[in-house]
Amino acid sequence: MNWRSEVERPPGFVFRKHRKGLLRSSETFILHCEDVPLAKLAERYGTPLYVYSTTAILKRLGAFENAFRRVLHTICYSVKANSNLSILRLMARQGCGFDVVSGGELERVLVADRRAAKKVVYSGVGKSRKEITAALKAGILLFNVESESELWVLADCAAQCRTVARVALRVNPDVAADTHPYISTGLRKHKFGVPIGNARELYGKASSARHLKVVGVSVHIGSQITDVAPFAEAIDRVADLVRDLRADKHRIDYVDIGGGLGIEYQAPNLQFVECAARYARAVANPLRGLNVHLLLEPGRSIVGPAGALLTSVIYRKENDGKRFLIVDAAMNDLIRPTLYGAYHEIVPVVQSKKSPAKKETVDVVGPVCESGDFLARDRELPRVEEGDLLAILDAGAYGMALASNYNSRPRPAEILVRGKSAKIIRRRETGRELYAAEL
Ligand code: LLP
Repeated sequence: MNWRSEVERPPGFVFRKHRKGLLRSSETFILHCEDVPLAKLAERYGTPLYVYSTTAILKRLGAFENAFRRVLHTICYSVKANSNLSILRLMARQGCGFDVVSGGELERVLVADRRAAKKVVYSGVGKSRKEITAALKAGILLFNVESESELWVLADCAAQCRTVARVALRVNPDVAADTHPYISTGLRKHKFGVPIGNARELYGKASSARHLKVVGVSVHIGSQITDVAPFAEAIDRVADLVRDLRADKHRIDYVDIGGGLGIEYQAPNLQFVECAARYARAVANPLRGLNVHLLLEPGRSIVGPAGALLTSVIYRKENDGKRFLIVDAAMNDLIRPTLYGAYHEIVPVVQSKKSPAKKETVDVVGPVCESGDFLARDRELPRVEEGDLLAILDAGAYGMALASNYNSRPRPAEILVRGKSAKIIRRRETGRELYAAEL
């Protein structure tokens, strides 16, 4: 494998020969997001900085759409993966619906595009009355109800709003998926959904409520699942349930299969078209002949590889032979490595092909005061110096969305690139904003 293909994530992130300025040399390569050199963005906007590629997002969305073209479907982009308004607008312009899990996410969708409300599905085990009422008023497509208690609260709220809520029960199919335990959701021991064995009875109760209209079944078995077999198994069980429910005279128009398709963090994900096609075959097969409208809630697989987190090396440090790169991004900016033991490829933004830097094994750590503040451990990287730039790849999903202000650190700015243009879609927070709400 040649040194460049090891690290490229086209069409978003690609090394290109540097042509201008001080580093003029045919042997110097700079990581670009589309046609924009990342070094230029870092200089202009500072680091840490999230950078996203519009083309990569659109390509991945297109791959999904294409994979499901023979099936009646709507992609409801999962807002939690990356909820920046500009990203939501981009999705809305493509005709996407949205999967939300809170009043806050719904509010963002409505601000991004009021008309998208009719394509919103709302999941979550703890929807409050206030959130439910806001969603009813917005006229969302579907409530994915996760317990009997929630069903009655929803019926009550709908009665008060003098409306009817469209309902699916989120069923828990008791299917194991090989992913991190924190993001696996489809087993009986998890808090999500109602056991599939109890669903028929609960559908009976729901259909007797005047202000509820049963229209579908929903399921979501977890996230970062790269093997399609567990999806097929779960949908198989859901298909059986749809047949039973129809025999009970329920009208089931929609099957919401959730999100969860994983990405390749360890290797370039060049064949997403194939992954999406494989996934589509696995989930569409069990539903064949049922004539349902499929709802999909992908998040990570659309935006994950389309984003990178840029960071600068502040210090190099060696403690008894252990080497650290102390960088200006930290666990508050990207928590995945420490929270899930997640791997994110890290590459120097500027690389020389002629005299490649020697490799060394380092821990890449941030300035936060915790030993858990790391972005990579025992990672082999080309040697970089203080002031050099690193790109942490595949950070477009659950990066900024999970960022916090721990250690009173302002969250990074975000940039959306398209071709040669780079637009700031969230400016860096200021210190003052962090305590502005405090008395
Ligand atoms: N639908 C529901 C009901 C979900 O709970 C989720 C993710 C999705 C869709 C989108 O799943 P995706 O396609 O993105 O896998 N913070 C974790 C991931 C948490 C996922 C939570 N639910 C991480 O950084 O890996």
